[in-house]
Amino acid sequence: MLQMQNEPILIVGATHGIGRRLAERLISAGRSVISAGRTVDAPQGVLKHVVFNAIEQVLPTADLPDALGGLVYCPGSIDLKPMRVLKADDLRVAFEINVVGAFQSIQVCLDRLKRCPSSGIVLFSTVAVQRGMAFHAGVAAAKGAVEGLTRSLSAELAPVVRVNCIAPGLTRTGLSERLLNTPEKEKASADRHPMKRVGEPDDIAAMAQFLLSKEATWITGQVFGVDGGMSTI
Ligand SMILES: NC(=O)c1ccc[n+]([C@@H]2O[C@H](COP(=O)([O-])OP(=O)(O)OC[C@H]3O[C@@H](n4cnc5c(N)ncnc54)[C@H](OP(=O)(O)O)[C@@H]3O)[C@@H](O)[C@H]2O)c1
Repeated sequence: MLQMQNEPILIVGATHGIGRRLAERLISAGRSVISAGRTVDAPQGVLKHVVFNAIEQVLPTADLPDALGGLVYCPGSIDLKPMRVLKADDLRVAFEINVVGAFQSIQVCLDRLKRCPSSGIVLFSTVAVQRGMAFHAGVAAAKGAVEGLTRSLSAELAPVVRVNCIAPGLTRTGLSERLLNTPEKEKASADRHPMKRVGEPDDIAAMAQFLLSKEATWITGQVFGVDGGMSTI
């Protein structure tokens, strides 16, 4: 098995939601974490915090260390609209945040990732790519592109850098807040999942942590559903 060093993991979006929980888990496990995102205040315990907006700029790398053990790109969207009101511009926005932002963040960090044996990239899709869901056309199209990016880059970057993707079901974060903000919505969402609950950030962060660990050095090019069984049952 390849030896991994404790090179820092860069999490774009470690201030909230799944990325925040992942940062907490990694730091508790003794890994170094660098965060990046729009919020000015650094998350607790990170080595460094880079303030930037992935829609407006490319991740600034001047202050990053020479080697990175991993890159996790969390920014995403859940903009649910029926086809009659979904605009081409909505699709462009979804592609900017989900696909272009991820692509550019990987591109500017690639040399640093290549300096760390078996470093890992983790991207996020959604259960709505694998399973058709009404009103999800914009986000499903963009996240489908993230899955394509995952497989394509995993081929291009093997055997040096691993690229994997997690496709969550509905997970309780700020992003999904308006889908879960009444007991009725919460129950309806829980009932739709075979495991009869919605996801918690920890459910998804646990998988991301595993994919960044030395236990996962033979795993690349995969899209993992972490969705209470919704994609397949
Ligand atoms: N939650 C769900 O139900 C669900 C379901 C399926 C898929 N997903 C996917 O899982 C991923 C994580 O979701 P989440 O629920 O944890 O999201 P979240 O709670 O909205 O957190 C997103 C993180 O990304 C950062 N971010 C957002 N926009 C950014 C921008 N323009 N530039 C830089 N950083 C930005 C945010 O930090 P700042 O605000 O500090 O910038 C935040 O830390 C997303 O890709 C999402 O599409 C989530």
